[in-house]
Amino acid sequence: MEKKYSTKKISFAGPWITKKEEEYMLDAVRNGWYATFDKDIILFEKTMRDYMGMKHALGTHCCTQSLHLAAASMGLGAGDEVICTDFSWVATAYSFVYTGAKAVFVDIDPDSWCIDPAAIEKAITPKSKAIMLVHTFGHPAQMDEIMEIAQKHNLRVIEDAAPSLGAKFKGKLVGTFGDVGCISFHGAKIAASGEGGVFLTNNDELYEKAKLLASMGRTDSKAVFWSDQVGYQYTIGNLPAAMARAQVERIDELVANKRKIFDWYYERLGDVEGIKILKEKKDCFSNYCYPSMLLEDSLKCDRDELIRQLKARNIHPRPAFPRMSRFPMFEARFPNPESALVERRGVSLPAAHNLVEEDVDFVCESILELTGKKSK
Ligand SMILES: Cc1ncc(COP(=O)(O)O)c(C=O)c1O
Repeated sequence: MEKKYSTKKISFAGPWITKKEEEYMLDAVRNGWYATFDKDIILFEKTMRDYMGMKHALGTHCCTQSLHLAAASMGLGAGDEVICTDFSWVATAYSFVYTGAKAVFVDIDPDSWCIDPAAIEKAITPKSKAIMLVHTFGHPAQMDEIMEIAQKHNLRVIEDAAPSLGAKFKGKLVGTFGDVGCISFHGAKIAASGEGGVFLTNNDELYEKAKLLASMGRTDSKAVFWSDQVGYQYTIGNLPAAMARAQVERIDELVANKRKIFDWYYERLGDVEGIKILKEKKDCFSNYCYPSMLLEDSLKCDRDELIRQLKARNIHPRPAFPRMSRFPMFEARFPNPESALVERRGVSLPAAHNLVEEDVDFVCESILELTGKKSK
């Protein structure tokens, strides 16, 4: 292979912005004040309700806040345990740890990197109050089994669907199965507004509580600016709401683009011995927000060294998350070997919306060369 460096930064993630986003933002900048200061928030929340088929949608500054509102509106707190995947961005666990609840980290399914339903069952104690699952990197978790376990043991379910807008399990959008579903619009997500999040539920009581908490607990019950409880400033701004709405309106093409990028990777790396590309499981429709691979131990290469060498070529993949149960503020109740393997050997591939087939070609050629799977 001749080429050793890409002049274009082959980014891990990044949005796809069109005239629609520009127009919605410009309109919000020009007109989203005074009598219409929250026009785009109202429209964004309606668009989310309609798209997801949910009764309530509450826009937030970011998904971490949506998840915190989920835990807080359920009344989780000290003495409660939440069964949580060990493999995620730490926001997943922080969101309920903020309430005083304790994280019980369990293992993942090696074929999807989502929480393993069998591991949930094994972790249940009399203190268990909720399950926090993640639709990891856009791949749906096994919602049938999870909801069955939750019903059997009377547990609440929070779906962290941060990167997974548009993904489906058995034809139903993820984020619509549990008591609350939360989605992120961070700049690295499939649909981006810089920062942004949404809290989704069909439960009136949870929605009303979350709405109150998200606006400082302000009720005006005894005076203007009166609060009856401590709350948070968690509401989305009008400008990010305008951008998020434009992206949600384009979600089908955003998902199609990510799936195309995944297909390019799968065509090139799907059959390579020692490389396991995560492909959607039966009944699952992934949005492939972050196409990922496991470097099996048979492949004699150091994961971090591979990433370093790819970065030297201006290719920017991401190592898998460390297990949260290893963090000093948490506790490991289970060894979670599958999460441990992914932590050591997992890589998420560049999948910014601006990649073209030639970029993926260069990434794959480089991976094959650097792992010794193809001659130089
Ligand atoms: C699985 C998961 N949960 C939660 C979050 C937090 O989202 P936000 O950055 O919008 O707070 C992220 C974002 O990276 C995420 O990937």
